[in-house]
Amino acid sequence: MRILVTGGTGYIGSHTVLSLLESGHEVVVVDNLVNSSEESLRRVGELAGRTAAFHELDLVDESALESVFDQHSIDAVIHFAGLKAVGESVQEPLSYYYNNIVGTLNLLRAMDKHGVRSIVFSSSATVYGEHNPIPYVEKMEIGANNPYGRTKEQIEDILTDLGAADERWHIALLRYFNPVGAHPSGKIGEDPQGIPNNLVPFIAQVAVGRREKLMVFGGDYDTPDGTCLRDYIHVVDLAQGHVAALDYVSARPGVHRWNLGSGKGTSVLEMLHAFEQAVGRPLPYEITGRRSGDLPAFWADASSALADLSWSTTKSVEQMCEDHWRWQKNNPFGYRQS
Ligand code: NAD
Ligand code: UFG
Repeated sequence: MRILVTGGTGYIGSHTVLSLLESGHEVVVVDNLVNSSEESLRRVGELAGRTAAFHELDLVDESALESVFDQHSIDAVIHFAGLKAVGESVQEPLSYYYNNIVGTLNLLRAMDKHGVRSIVFSSSATVYGEHNPIPYVEKMEIGANNPYGRTKEQIEDILTDLGAADERWHIALLRYFNPVGAHPSGKIGEDPQGIPNNLVPFIAQVAVGRREKLMVFGGDYDTPDGTCLRDYIHVVDLAQGHVAALDYVSARPGVHRWNLGSGKGTSVLEMLHAFEQAVGRPLPYEITGRRSGDLPAFWADASSALADLSWSTTKSVEQMCEDHWRWQKNNPFGYRQS
């Protein structure tokens, strides 16, 4: 198939483009590079031995998007493009709603107009909100507690309504847990701009000397070691989950929802210690106050993806840290030179 990947130069997008190329698909990427670099796609091309077409454009520009559908005969779309920082979304809700919702509406309208009605959407475990018991199961009521998460929930609603209104649509809503790691080649990986919000990119920058120490947000949670538990998933497993979901939905109309996670919780300190093992030395850290909005623990019930897609995670926390570290060590400033 020829797959349009929005946000395909980003962290999860670039790994998924590689998996798609390796699975024999043709790929067209659109991205406005607001949080990524085209260098990622050049390296994906090196790894795959063939390249994806690239168009630099913003999804809020409907006519630019239309012209991509005019130029390429697209069979299906994987939609990653969006802003994703929870804290920033609380400060700048209008930017988040405009970018994520308008961008998605433009995409869906262009798809409909061109008769392309298969889409895999990047949702997030954050849609489960703060009131559900763990592990999270797809059939639970959702209710995000921050603007970023609400954009994910609202896009899920839009896609669900669309699937209900028109049975020609094939829709996958993928709720990711905590993606970490990098391709084992060390050539592509996560390249956050500024101070990383997420745990593993922060630890990696401490290990490479860009940050002094890790601040562990809260050591007094009701968890085995007092720090929060999350369900970390290797980005290569996540990328393969997209290929599996695409294969499944291409053959079946309707709206399908899957958690993509490992089904296990790992604490902040366990993750730090696994990273120390990968680096081969202890890393400085300090336990500080809780971060507002953090939940003590959540992980996926990953059984639906296994049953429907024959997909499950294959890589351990140790492999996530080894691969993340190889990427960071070889590329201390990410895709930039300094
Ligand atoms: P990323 O920032 O690396 O990738 C997103 C890409 O979208 C970037 O390359 C950015 O330049 C592009 N983009 C943003 N707005 C755009 C627009 N209006 N037009 C065109 N391009 C635009 O993030 P990622 O970690 O690869 O996440 C990919 C998707 O997965 C996002 O939708 C994110 O919300 C979702 N997600 C990520 C996580 C995570 O922890 N990384 C967890 C759950 C869900
Ligand atoms: N943490 C620290 N120090 C740091 C960064 C994080 O102690 O410098 C802790 C957090 O308090 C939390 C854990 O590490 O307990 C994981 O935090 P992340 O920021 O890496 O991940 P979150 O679970 O908060 O959120 C991430 C994404 C969300 C997404 C969610 C579920 O940022 O967008 O996973 O998929 F919705």
